[in-house]
Order: sequence, then structure tokens, then C-alpha cells
Amino acid sequence: MKDICILGIETSCDETSAAVLKGDNLLSNVISSQIDIHRRFGGVVPEIASRNHLTAILPVIDEALQKAGVTKSDIDAIAVTYGAGLVGALLVGVSAAKALAYSLNVPLYAVNHIEAHIAANYISTPDLKPPFLAVVASGGHTGVCLVDGFNKFTMLASTTDDAIGEAFDKVARAVGLPYPGGPEIDKLARQGAPNIKFVERKHKSAELSYSGLKTAVINYLHTMEQRGQKPVLEDVCASFQHTAVDMLADVAVATVKKSGIKTVVAAGGVSANSYLRDKLKTECEALGCEVHFPPMSLCTDNAAMVAIRAKHMIAEGVSPAGLNLNAKSYLKIEGN
Ligand code: KG4
Ligand code: ZN
Repeated sequence: MKDICILGIETSCDETSAAVLKGDNLLSNVISSQIDIHRRFGGVVPEIASRNHLTAILPVIDEALQKAGVTKSDIDAIAVTYGAGLVGALLVGVSAAKALAYSLNVPLYAVNHIEAHIAANYISTPDLKPPFLAVVASGGHTGVCLVDGFNKFTMLASTTDDAIGEAFDKVARAVGLPYPGGPEIDKLARQGAPNIKFVERKHKSAELSYSGLKTAVINYLHTMEQRGQKPVLEDVCASFQHTAVDMLADVAVATVKKSGIKTVVAAGGVSANSYLRDKLKTECEALGCEVHFPPMSLCTDNAAMVAIRAKHMIAEGVSPAGLNLNAKSYLKIEGN
């Protein structure tokens, strides 16, 4: 059987990306980031994101095809992120994908963004096979997902309020760091000590909640200001980062113990965090697990993960989407 050639498209937030996957070979993964555009607003402005996706999408697709050394007629299937994300941003990718699928007469696959983040691990760890646990840490989702088939995802634990990346970005803003705050906190935290206790954690292996922690950091900064004291921002960042990551790592460890599953992967933008990578590796390896992380380039949003997610959908006969596919701002992980 010939290697199937998939064009992946991702536009859920502020990265316009297209990738070509042929069989198991990732031939290209072009990412055009809007970070510099949104930075001056302190966060992603949805309307501006949509407009920039519009201007970027066709050149990014062309570049992905060119870098892969293929033409449109070589494409056997189109895969696109249809949720979760910013609706206007998603719609640009979905519309481009529908138009291409129609004009090339190839099937269109609707990909769940978080399932794609998890699937990024199949690119960096080609031997990876379910069952495994995915520690999901992104700007919109946080928790531990059981992956017990290439197309079978069940969230075993989820945040009850904010996502971890959202908390990183909001705390960074309060500290005065530029958008996106996660990598900035990561950097500053390396020069600080985790010596501030923002929240009392009572049920260490069960709780997953970021709203209270975020508010506690903001309150701490306000109190220091009212007292005319200068907070040590390096320590604030280190303390926040430790608490945020420990909370997720504790839940991951509890889930490993409960499930008996010995393979753990990380998924989503926050899995680029240096402390999260160290902590998860140390804690899970101590339980006899093998732990895998995508490389930095595949942690944040990209279309390679969309293409490989679709490869597994196609392999197991998941039905393609119709041309009435719509974008969804909210999408549960148990999508298929
Ligand atoms: O997965 P992602 O690219 O987008 C969503 O699907 O949400 O994740 C983006 C999030 C942002 O909140 C960003 O601040 C965070 O990932 N992030 C990090 C790091 N790199 C990206 N957070 C902590 N440490 C990092 N090194
Ligand atoms: Zn993402």
C-alpha cells in the first residue's frame, strides 16, 4: 500500500501552521507565529488573530508543500483542527481545509486540538503505543488523559477551573512579564527560590485547580505594593511555578499508581516548561515508568501533530468530516 500523504492545518489560536506527513515521515511543519503582534496587547486579541490567519494561511500551506517537495495533487487527505480554540481563528483553517478537500476531491478529517497535542508524541517517539497516560498541560486544558487506543481518549482528571497555561499567562501579566508568560516565568524562575507559600494544599493527589493559586499570587503582589515593599519577582515566579507544576505532577503520580500504566507522555504548550519536564520525569521514573516529552518545537501549536492525529484516524477507519464541518470553541477530549 502506498504511503498516505496528509496535509495538516492548525489555526486554533495565534499560530498559523501547515505540515505534510507522508507515511511516517514528517516532510514539513511550517509555523507562522503571531506572538509579536499580540505581545503589545498583553495577550491574544481574537479578532486580530483571525485577520492574521487569513493573510498567512495560503502562503503557509504553499510553503509547507514546497518544503515537503510535493504538489497539491500528491495530497491524499486534509486534516484540520476544528476545536477547541478561538472560533474566528479556527474558522480560517477549517474554511481553507474544506476548500482544498473539495477542490482536490480528497477526504477531510476533523481533528480535536488536545488529541493532536497528545499525538505529537508519536512523531518524537515513533515506538510509542497505547495504552499510556498523557499529562495534558496547555493554555486551555489541564489534566491526565488515558489513551488506551490510537483513537480512544478518556480524561481521568481535569482542572476544576483555569488551565495551567492560562494561570502562567495571567500570573506573568501581574508580574509585568510580556505575553506569552509561560516561557518568561520559566526563565525568571530559574534565578529564584520557591520560598513563598501561596496556597495551602490539603489533598495533594486529588486537587487540580489553578484559579485560587493565580488569585493568591495576584493578592500577594498587591499586599506587597500596599506595604511599599518590593517583591522578589524571581522568587514569586519560582514559587508559583513549583506549586502549579507540583499540583499536576501529584495528580499524574496518583493516576499512574491507580491505573498501573507505566508509560507517561506530556502534551501541550506548558510541557515545554523546564521544571515540569524535570519533575514529571523524576516522579514517574521513580515509579518505574518510561516518560516521553515532545521536543520544544512540537509542544506548542503546530500542524504536524494534526497530521499525525489524522493518520491514526484514517488507519482505524474513523469517518471523514463532511463539508458542513464547523469550528467549535469548546470541545471535550472524548471526541471520537
Ligand atoms: O498548547 P499551547 O501552545 O496552546 C493551547 O492549546 O492552549 O499552549 C500555550 C500555553 C501558553 O499558556 C504558554 O504560556 C504556555 O503554553 N507555555 C509555557 C511554556 N511554553 C509555553 N508555560 C510554561 N513554561 C513554558 N516554557
Ligand atoms: Zn495548543
